[in-house]
Amino acid sequence: MSHTDQHASASPERLDAWSDGDGAARATSTFSRVFGHEPDGVWSAPGRVNIIGEHTDYNGGLALPIALPHRTFAAFRRRDDGVIRLVSGRESTPWEGRLSDVAPGAVSGWAGYVAGVAWALEQAGQPVTGFDAAIESCVPYGAGLSSSAALEGSVAVALAEHPDWVGDPSSDEGRAALAAACVRAENEIAGANTGGMDQAASLRCREGHALLLDCRDGSVEHLEFDLAAAGLELLVIDTRAEHALVDGQYAQRRATCEAAAATLGVETLREIEPAQLDAALARLDDDVSRARVRHVVTEIERVRGFVDLLSAGKVREVGPLMDASHDSLRDDYEVTGTELDTAVNAARAAGALGARMTGGGFGGSAIALIDAGRADEVSTAVVQAFREAGLGEPAFLVATPSAPAGRATA
Ligand code: GLA
Repeated sequence: MSHTDQHASASPERLDAWSDGDGAARATSTFSRVFGHEPDGVWSAPGRVNIIGEHTDYNGGLALPIALPHRTFAAFRRRDDGVIRLVSGRESTPWEGRLSDVAPGAVSGWAGYVAGVAWALEQAGQPVTGFDAAIESCVPYGAGLSSSAALEGSVAVALAEHPDWVGDPSSDEGRAALAAACVRAENEIAGANTGGMDQAASLRCREGHALLLDCRDGSVEHLEFDLAAAGLELLVIDTRAEHALVDGQYAQRRATCEAAAATLGVETLREIEPAQLDAALARLDDDVSRARVRHVVTEIERVRGFVDLLSAGKVREVGPLMDASHDSLRDDYEVTGTELDTAVNAARAAGALGARMTGGGFGGSAIALIDAGRADEVSTAVVQAFREAGLGEPAFLVATPSAPAGRATA
């Protein structure tokens, strides 16, 4: 039997979410083993998939994420000596430092996402001291499903459960403030210049709903997103082509958009209405900028179209908008790549109503809207297409709109 034959009959790999109890138990056990005492509690935050509205957040645009059932769990205990000690089941090196030493450029690697949140919240005037934290997560790592926002969010809600916290951290306003601190941590301490959609999704989503996020003013709307009622499912395909937002491509896309906005005399590309697009493109002097701007303006319009269909109870008709989103990200924004295109093409050929990459791109994950009960069939078709193209083995999960960050144990 050849190598390929051995795998030919294997069923597609599923990425299962942990239950709250399971995640909390794992984080607690790591915590007590490493630190030798019990945590104050366990807090958790979800990863996300964005349904549509990609690379729009840092352009003041619209995005439509849902929270995943996959979460990151932080067993946490406050300390009053300004020391932070971190351990993660996923990372071989623990981290220890002082909150007062956390600053841009001072913390490298995964600890920056955690210590950075404490730093940003302290800068925002919140009562942050030191803490011990043990992290365990079932959010697929490097899969474009926001494992970093889940990490930040779990620590943010843990820190916010403090008797002297300023504001109500469970209100949407309080959640928006936590998300803003997570974005600062990611931008200034971890060094990834991302736009804020992921943190908003992890902290501000609602179970059963998609989050319509307006990145111009930070406002949100919760739209009922009941795919099951429409006989549908959302299949997530982790291509296993690892993507990294700290590399230059993401920052380059953002810089091109910001430069184009400056040339056009607008604060962000959000200000360009679809009817003004041709005139705006004519004022730009290179094809690359024109293509990037075209993506952003048309993508924001696709979010509007998607929301209109959703509100009209026509979710079965959103497929073409998802397809158009992917094609625009592939041709105009140039952030897809072989694995993502293969996944999307195979899902479409297997009968998906629509399919697109999700998240930052350059690897990571794709989503496919499919008829309920067809996940295995579509997954198998995608696996087959990856084998034929000589690509690695992808993995799958079915996404349901899940709960935002919060306390996992009483
Ligand atoms: C990543 C970033 C987000 C957003 C998406 C693209 O997930 O973290 O801020 O820009 O890419 O939509």
